[in-house]
Amino acid sequence: MSAKIIDGKAVSAEVRERVAAEVSEFIEGGGHQPVLATVLVGDDPASHVYVANKHKACEAAGIGSVHHELPAETSQADLVTLVEALGDDDAIDGILVQLPPPEHIDPDAVIAAINPAKDVDGLTATNAGLLAGGRPGLVPCTPAGVIELLDHAGTELEGAEAVIVGRSNLVGRPLISLLLGRNATVTAAHSRTRDLAAVCSRADVLVAAVGVPELLGADHVKPGATVIDVGINRTDDGLKGDVDFEAAVEVAGAITPVPGGVGPMTIAMLMANTLAAARARAI
Ligand code: GUN
Repeated sequence: MSAKIIDGKAVSAEVRERVAAEVSEFIEGGGHQPVLATVLVGDDPASHVYVANKHKACEAAGIGSVHHELPAETSQADLVTLVEALGDDDAIDGILVQLPPPEHIDPDAVIAAINPAKDVDGLTATNAGLLAGGRPGLVPCTPAGVIELLDHAGTELEGAEAVIVGRSNLVGRPLISLLLGRNATVTAAHSRTRDLAAVCSRADVLVAAVGVPELLGADHVKPGATVIDVGINRTDDGLKGDVDFEAAVEVAGAITPVPGGVGPMTIAMLMANTLAAARARAI
């Protein structure tokens, strides 16, 4: 039997419509128009496309946006100065520095310069700490989108066995906290996990976020499990997830495709975070 396909494009559109309606209500209730600032250093073509899409999504949601584009040779000190200035600028609610920066810039130093109240990526130590402690804060967009997709698919999280493959700061680690917060039994698997197939095949909820094309196949999927594929890998055969979709779709109960699964959710949650930051700053 073939799994139900979880349509990330449709769920993303729903979330973005909901945020647009809430932005209107916020403004009608006397609030200011939320504004997102993006910062892009260098000329990576994929990053340019991602940032342009973020600005389009802002416009559709009624969120204002400003963009700072800096040459590849920009120094770390100059970037940090800009990010700090945006943090102090009363007209800005959210700050997103597109990652990765050029090699001579330490991403951790840049993230540390972001005002945590405007950290719509949820990457600062403050927001990561709040999430790890189960307290409210700004949550990274992609893992927040994964939870939204699981809820949309009707996947029971309470008491479920959840296995996350990958432990990045952007996805794996925050997902551990989010799934724990929903009372799942969480296992974090990674490149040193001994028997990955044995660990994964216990999962009622399997999340792949490792960046290795088609690492997980039918042997990794428990029959009926919900499989969320965060991977976006450019290969000679086109865009591939971390899951071998053709194999897993025959075993899973529900599964996200690549593209059209988790990808579109990140922008939707960025819009939600920008509104949340604007609301919190207005109090
Ligand atoms: N590059 C790839 N994904 C992301 C993301 O979620 N946020 C930022 N800032 N950069 C990224």
